[in-house]
Amino acid sequence: MQNQFTAFEKATNNQAYKMAFNDLWMRRDKKNPEKFIGNTQRQDFLKYLTPIIEKLGPHPHIFDFGAGAGEIVDVLLHKLSKATLHLEEPNQILMDAYINRLKKYPHLKKGSSSLEKLQNMELPKELINQVDLALGLHMIYHFDEEELSSSLASMYNLLKVGGKIFLVYADQEQSTTGLAAQYYYKQLGQDKTRNKLQSVWATRNRLLKDGGIASILDKRFSEFQASVTSQFLSSYIFADQKSEIAIMCLTGELGTVDNGPFEMDKLHHCLNFVSEKASDIGLAVKKNEVTQQNMLRANQPQVITVIEKKVRP
Ligand SMILES: C[S@@+](CC[C@H](N)C(=O)[O-])C[C@H]1O[C@@H](n2cnc3c(N)ncnc32)[C@H](O)[C@@H]1O
Repeated sequence: MQNQFTAFEKATNNQAYKMAFNDLWMRRDKKNPEKFIGNTQRQDFLKYLTPIIEKLGPHPHIFDFGAGAGEIVDVLLHKLSKATLHLEEPNQILMDAYINRLKKYPHLKKGSSSLEKLQNMELPKELINQVDLALGLHMIYHFDEEELSSSLASMYNLLKVGGKIFLVYADQEQSTTGLAAQYYYKQLGQDKTRNKLQSVWATRNRLLKDGGIASILDKRFSEFQASVTSQFLSSYIFADQKSEIAIMCLTGELGTVDNGPFEMDKLHHCLNFVSEKASDIGLAVKKNEVTQQNMLRANQPQVITVIEKKVRP
């Protein structure tokens, strides 16, 4: 375990995020690189995203926000015959990896790219009403209540009629990463931050899981009508050791995007959390369907929300 943590001692926050998200969450099966070993979230939400991708018209414009390193290209987007991908991702390491990955797929064109955080990004005017699909895959953890509505309104503004925003996020009120963030701020005695997190999660579920975002968008874009549908899925994370589950907790609200030094304390608290709260996160040895081996599994339920832009009747 010490070895695994050593790599974090001199890491920046961006490097730590990469080690948690890309190296553990996004671990692939060597025999079948389309399959993820570290979580079932991907295979679970792909069942909903794949039919949307299959129904896109010729040469669609896709706007991937909080795009990460673009794993979704390898598992799904490369199946499109032609498309232009516009990217927004504030972590330079991940943006470079995404752009590099796209080079493997000459039929996928790179469109605009922005290293700004979504809430600070200037909307590319030429894309307003042009985008077929905006993807927000496990990235909304970085918004407060106000930023969530305003960022989604910006993405909605980019959609053409019939275009969709596909959002997926962990239900932090129940998930391992959400409970880890609660535990961390409790240990630090930061009750204000804990309360704020709970309030953000409740708002998120009200706007997305319960569809409340529709009336906000309809008020702001009076010529269109937003149709919102949501699904709740029980999903899981998998790892070989408790220390890896602790590292995986560094994403979600505990993940920061900057080049400041990573604080080791965060990791130690996450490890204590995994040991002390094992039953709250459903920690158990279970068979990983991909590797067909026993691994440690913890709860990571997620919500999928699809927002479609329609003409107001
Ligand atoms: C869990 S990762 C998901 C990456 C990618 N969407 C995927 O599913 O593979 C969350 C991403 O959100 C990015 N992010 C963090 N804060 C952000 C912000 N304010 N605006 C946009 N993206 C942000 C992170 O850098 C990270 O790449």
